[in-house]
Amino acid sequence: MGPTPSISITIQDEPDVVIARTEAKYLAREIGFDQVDQSRIATVASELAVNVLRHAHQGVMRASLLQQNGLFGLEIVFQDQGPGIPDVESAVNGTSPPNGKNSLGLSATKILVDEFEIESQVGQGTTVVIRKWMRC
Ligand SMILES: Nc1ncnc2c1ncn2[C@@H]1O[C@H](COP(=O)(O)OP(=O)(O)OP(=O)(O)O)[C@@H](O)[C@H]1O
Ligand SMILES: [Mg+2]
Repeated sequence: MGPTPSISITIQDEPDVVIARTEAKYLAREIGFDQVDQSRIATVASELAVNVLRHAHQGVMRASLLQQNGLFGLEIVFQDQGPGIPDVESAVNGTSPPNGKNSLGLSATKILVDEFEIESQVGQGTTVVIRKWMRC
């Protein structure tokens, strides 16, 4: 394989969500993920990009190839400087959302990936990191 493939996309408008989804899926395919995992990765990218747009108005998605102990994987980072999340645990579990309706985006995302990290500070912003490894 050539140099580490990576992408960086600014998310600030509806079409950027489609670009984020498409580019993440494309990179997943390039790395060698099967079609089911490509779809999972596309779904995750879409959910997290929508979150950036809807809750923080703008941010960036960075995706890159991982290589560790002979395994290939994909890391995607979503970073914004939006309002942050006051109760990260509830947000991630999809429980007691502020608006009273069930939130499924983050909890579903967590299930679809191997590693899920979220760091958020009120008034500073939110960073979500997901990693998915290729089965061998
Ligand atoms: N990037 C973000 N910046 C600020 N708040 C966020 C961000 N992402 C998520 N949140 C907060 O976490 C909550 C849970 O997010 P989640 O994606 O699970 O649900 P949702 O976006 O409200 O609804 P949906 O089920 O349509 O995704 C949101 O309601 C929002 O309050
Ligand atoms: Mg959401």
